[in-house]
Amino acid sequence: MQNRFIFFTEPRTNTFTTDLNQPLGKGVQGRVYKGVNNDTREIVAIKRIFAMDSVGIQKCMKEAQIMECLSQTYSINIIKYHGVARDQFTFSIAMEYASRSSLDVWLKDKTQSTMKDKQLFIMLGVASGLFYMHAEKILHCDIKPANIMLGRDLQPKIGDFGLSKRIGVEDLSRIAGTPYYFSPELLLTGFCSPLYGGLHSEASDMYSFGLLCWCILTQSASPNTKFKNPADLLYGVVRDGYRETIPAEPHCPNKLSNLIQLSWWHDPQFRPKAIKAVEVIEEVIREESGASHKLN
Ligand SMILES: Nc1ncnc2c1ncn2[C@@H]1O[C@H](COP(=O)(O)OP(=O)(O)OP(=O)(O)O)[C@@H](O)[C@H]1O
Ligand SMILES: [Mg+2]
Repeated sequence: MQNRFIFFTEPRTNTFTTDLNQPLGKGVQGRVYKGVNNDTREIVAIKRIFAMDSVGIQKCMKEAQIMECLSQTYSINIIKYHGVARDQFTFSIAMEYASRSSLDVWLKDKTQSTMKDKQLFIMLGVASGLFYMHAEKILHCDIKPANIMLGRDLQPKIGDFGLSKRIGVEDLSRIAGTPYYFSPELLLTGFCSPLYGGLHSEASDMYSFGLLCWCILTQSASPNTKFKNPADLLYGVVRDGYRETIPAEPHCPNKLSNLIQLSWWHDPQFRPKAIKAVEVIEEVIREESGASHKLN
């Protein structure tokens, strides 16, 4: 299937071909397929969204614009934008293809995902991608394994910017995302009252990042699954202060465990920034590789 590229800033137009026989994944809004950028011959991923009313189109355009803006950071840990196209029924976003699928799929492969060096490498990449996003004043708002794509050599790449918000542009009190990954202030605003809760922020992304690290350490598909409905989740996490149990040393080094615990702090202002997470994980990686050299 041939489509025309529309670039927001670049004057040239390209075409791309979507291979409908090669689905890569599906989400709430649409499906993602493998395709080709016909001009550059690069393999791309094409997200086709079936939302052709004006609100749907605006949402898709926003997602594409955020991707275009983030592509200018040149971070290897953020999925690159190629262009958008529209036909009568669909809106397509063409983007960098991640050949190793997404982190949720990788976590099911127990021979790979239990390896500590790989776990740390993925956590570091996501923290670095988040650092670049936050530097651009963009919040992801839906950090979870299904939204982290894996490239060659397992390089993690943050993707799915469908719920992302630009600080100072979007209303940060409109809570969206995956409730299991919500920070206490988002749970309160979303399921109780904005009077008691808080806004989407870098700190709420960091809370979700902490839960993502927990999923990686424990090969879990999702955190907080013991709560069966939003009310239980709200009571558990906010009123009772429930947090998932972080594995002990040597499975999870103490420095990493402290970082995750800090990212789960009730008060958002005490949670670490993404740059702090990058520093701590880099330190842990150095110490771990030193320890394994000693053993050899
Ligand atoms: N660039 C890519 N390269 C390879 N696979 C991808 C890529 N983008 C998405 N996928 C696959 O498609 C799935 C859905 O993509 P994405 O999360 O962007 O869609 P969505 O419809 O917004 O999903 P959600 O329900 O999370 O909102 C991903 O979990 C992943 O498995
Ligand atoms: Mg998704």
